[in-house]
Amino acid sequence: MTHVIVLGNEKGGSGKSTTAMHLVVALLKSGYKVGAVDLDLRQGSLSRYIDNRKKFAYLHGKELPFPLVTDVSESALDSREESREQETENLKTALQKLEGCDFAVIDCPGANTHLSRLAHLHADTIVTPLNDSFVDFDLLARLDPETGKVAGPSLYSEMVWNARKQRAMTGDPNGIDWVVMRNRLSSTHARNKKNMGEKLDDLAARIGFRLARGFGDRVIYRELFPMGLTLLDLGGPNSPVRLSTMSHVTARLEIRSLVAALNLPQQQSEQEKAA
Ligand SMILES: Nc1ncnc2c1ncn2[C@@H]1O[C@H](COP(=O)(O)OP(=O)(O)OP(=O)(O)O)[C@@H](O)[C@H]1O
Ligand SMILES: [Mg+2]
Repeated sequence: MTHVIVLGNEKGGSGKSTTAMHLVVALLKSGYKVGAVDLDLRQGSLSRYIDNRKKFAYLHGKELPFPLVTDVSESALDSREESREQETENLKTALQKLEGCDFAVIDCPGANTHLSRLAHLHADTIVTPLNDSFVDFDLLARLDPETGKVAGPSLYSEMVWNARKQRAMTGDPNGIDWVVMRNRLSSTHARNKKNMGEKLDDLAARIGFRLARGFGDRVIYRELFPMGLTLLDLGGPNSPVRLSTMSHVTARLEIRSLVAALNLPQQQSEQEKAA
């Protein structure tokens, strides 16, 4: 069974595509067969990241691992109902193409689209990167302006709640695991970091997500995109680029820590299958 990991958050720019690519490469490097689906049809950041990787590997003669990519198109039909039916079929077909994969990583747009909602219904694990800002927190929960306490779930949490409810109705005993990870954590804004941490702990218990440690704010994430590389490609004797600073080493540990926190099922790796 392919384990489906969906990167979602209706808030733009929270780190979904960056995290998706790092998860894809982390899983590939563990020997798994990985599929990738980019549902952000407008920006296509994950597809572009993978294209950049292909170009880099070709130009520099490097052997890099790649996921199996399948495309999903948006429906152009006028009727809302027909267009939704068509998109449902499109996503189903794309996931069928990835049936031989151990994991499928789906990157969603930073908006509430039909395809994104559908992807959440297929998820075994949802990963929600969240910038360390109360503006982004607002998509998860409303805060009481007087007391500062969590007043209730907000738009995105309600969408995940609905996906979980629908999934439960199918009789699936495993349900959807939801992991929220803080992104672009600053080393300087200690008070904001602590406040966000407290509110997220409170919310995690109330609406049922798990909190992962998350990634620090590091310029290397922006620099790697044009080369199609991730922090996990750096270092080692055949490394295409050197792992140059302590900050990069720490960042790599953060990625490994995220993968560990996801508690993904131990699929049989390609090496084990071949043995
Ligand atoms: N931990 C980080 N440190 C520094 N920059 C980061 C980090 N994570 C992401 N970025 C940068 O932030 C920007 C947004 O990241 P990304 O495109 O991954 O977010 P997204 O959630 O996929 O956005 P969208 O909703 O627009 O699809 C990019 O320029 C990316 O390089
Ligand atoms: Mg994106």
